[in-house]
Amino acid sequence: MSRLIVEGGTPIQGEIWVQGAKNSVLPILAATLLCEGPSVLHNCPRLSDVDAAVQILEYLGCQVKRAGDTLTVLPDTACRYDIPDDLMREMRSSIVFLGAIIARCQKAAISYPGGCELGPRPIDLHLQALRKLGTEIVEEHGFLDCQSHGRLRGAKIVLSFPSVGATENIMLAACTAKGTTEIINAAREPEIVDLADFLTKCGAKIKGAGEGTIEITGVEEIHGAEHHVIPDRIAAATYLSCAAITGGDLTLRGCSPDQMKSVLPLFEEAGCRLDYEGENIHIWGTVPLKPLKLVRTMPYPGFPTDAQAPLMAMTTLAKGATIFVENIFENRYKHAYELMRMGADIKIEGRVAVVEGVDALHGAQVCATDLRGGAALITAALAAQGETVITGVHHIDRGYETIEKILTAVGARVKRE
Ligand code: UD1
Repeated sequence: MSRLIVEGGTPIQGEIWVQGAKNSVLPILAATLLCEGPSVLHNCPRLSDVDAAVQILEYLGCQVKRAGDTLTVLPDTACRYDIPDDLMREMRSSIVFLGAIIARCQKAAISYPGGCELGPRPIDLHLQALRKLGTEIVEEHGFLDCQSHGRLRGAKIVLSFPSVGATENIMLAACTAKGTTEIINAAREPEIVDLADFLTKCGAKIKGAGEGTIEITGVEEIHGAEHHVIPDRIAAATYLSCAAITGGDLTLRGCSPDQMKSVLPLFEEAGCRLDYEGENIHIWGTVPLKPLKLVRTMPYPGFPTDAQAPLMAMTTLAKGATIFVENIFENRYKHAYELMRMGADIKIEGRVAVVEGVDALHGAQVCATDLRGGAALITAALAAQGETVITGVHHIDRGYETIEKILTAVGARVKRE
């Protein structure tokens, strides 16, 4: 088991190229399964979650090749319709393969992806929607046995919550269904738009991605395509937090400021100076930071739950109190208890966390219990006095490509042991 050793106290200075978005790559890899012929995907980060998705494709019978950040998927040899339990457990978002497998094979057999480190993560919306599209689903002993008896049928689906994964699963299932599917209260995240862009290049007919209603007109078949995955807005927010808390001076290259409209003003509110130019964001941190009034996580275009943890780390050293309200996941403050080990002053009551800024954080032995929580510990450790030892690094590796190398290149003292 590796661990990260962070020696705090050096400002982040230099430039970082932002990796491709993990949350785009995963559904797009699932989408390649629907296609006739190869797909070529550029800007795919090397992450354990991406490896897990590739393993699923290979298990299903696809051939996948990686050259640098390009993945080529040849799906024509895919013959299986099940995903083994160990692969389902490795990555909870493997559920996004369900819609694609049913659409391709007209049946699927997978295990139920139980809870996860963020609390219970039900898939009721995914299953209700797939049933509406004509899938018969038997849930037994933690397994889902799905049959569609022919092509799926388009339907009107109203989501009670704009779930990202459910929206993606419906889009994947509906592309080759008979007739039209309408998703009402669809998720509007940029990753949904990226998936729709890829599918459209493949010949799918999708209207309204990025809006509350998406319409998909089923086509008989879709073909592989070449696509460049969008930048990772959460990795970008994390590196901005690292620069802000250390009083650094950082340029992020290859990002999409347009997709970060709910996040970037918070850095300005904290007293940082920001400059955007095309695909670059320049941040000048300031010490001490100002507190943020209120950070409420919301579905896009609201503030993303995935950026809550790194921004919370940033506010631990602000001059005053910041209130966080987590509206998306029930159990998303585990990192706060680890930040407290480093001297942070945080009070939690249900969905609300109040961070009272302190004068200094000190190095400690802490454990990453989930991906973004792990990113928060790194953020705090970069500004802490002394050495922080972070365990549970496999969580961080799910979503940040070679984080220690990226941070070392901009002046941080981080090593992996
Ligand atoms: C995706 C992202 C994740 C991000 C989240 C919210 C990927 C791979 N992961 O996760 O990083 O934090 O969006 O932006 O893209 N829910 C139900 N029933 C369902 C589905 C969801 O109750 O059938 C609930 C969840 O428990 C959660 C909320 O809806 O409370 C949001 O979940 P959802 O948008 O589905 O998140 P994911 O797609 O799992």
